[in-house]
Amino acid sequence: MSYDIMRLIGNTPVIRLRRIAGEGSAEVHVKLEYLNPTGSHKDRIAYYMIRDAEERGLIRPGDEVVEASSGNTAISVAWIGSIRGYRVKIFVEEGVLEAKLSLIRSFGAEVIKVPPAKGSYTDVARKYAEDHGLLFLNQYDNEANVRAHYETTGTELLKQLDGRIDAFVMGIGTCGTIAGVGKLLREKLGEGVRIVGVVPRGSRIIRECGRPDKIEGLASDLVPGIWKRYHHIVDEIIEVSYEEAIQAVKALIRHEGILGGPPTGANIHAALKVARELGRGIVATIAPDTILKYPHIL
Ligand SMILES: Cc1ncc(COP(=O)(O)O)c(C=O)c1O
Repeated sequence: MSYDIMRLIGNTPVIRLRRIAGEGSAEVHVKLEYLNPTGSHKDRIAYYMIRDAEERGLIRPGDEVVEASSGNTAISVAWIGSIRGYRVKIFVEEGVLEAKLSLIRSFGAEVIKVPPAKGSYTDVARKYAEDHGLLFLNQYDNEANVRAHYETTGTELLKQLDGRIDAFVMGIGTCGTIAGVGKLLREKLGEGVRIVGVVPRGSRIIRECGRPDKIEGLASDLVPGIWKRYHHIVDEIIEVSYEEAIQAVKALIRHEGILGGPPTGANIHAALKVARELGRGIVATIAPDTILKYPHIL
């Protein structure tokens, strides 16, 4: 039997860490989102954002759509655009890995690098879309991003862990995953479940000045619109340095066979901390993408 490739989005497995979560800790379970078709959880939101715009009559195949992304969402939107027949223009900040940009272009999408002097790449993308009468998907503010994780990622996690989740730990980029999964867990499990956000050390999400660390995909300088609407869902935030994230990635690969990228490392570093604090129960977290997208790191 052959499948529509978009049916391969989601239903990713959950793996329990057997070695690096020490004795006297809660169990840590990781949902392997890098097993989505283009290698990240962003396939879910790209699909939701495009379908949502189609259903609202904002776009139809042949149109051009605009997105701002530091990498993974761009890959997912370019992929779906190539399958559903949209022309895709992606605005990125300077410094995104060339390997990622080549992949985006290979789907037929156009990449525009925005130098810092021109302002934020999201503002430049928004203005371009406005000036040309095009749809700006805007993952940082798009409610379909939250809904994707509420209806799919969160629902799957609850089912896979039999509704037994004591804490959910997730890096904040657009804030879509933690908002969607967190909202569902609050509704189904009540106030007892701990929702823990993870940000690079010094992130603007919690500090007004200073130079934040950069962990690809996580919010360093930008405070997303979704965060402003959903921050009440998050009980606490853990700051993780770039070095701590990379150490966790190395341990995860060596001892657990899980090929997560740097944001996975940040999640694991924070999840292990929460698991130690809880002592028992279940901590769920996500491996959003894979180290195979960052071959220079190891
Ligand atoms: C690899 C990776 N991890 C984590 C995140 C953060 O997820 P979210 O945008 O849902 O907050 C992103 C966002 O771009 C990402 O690309």
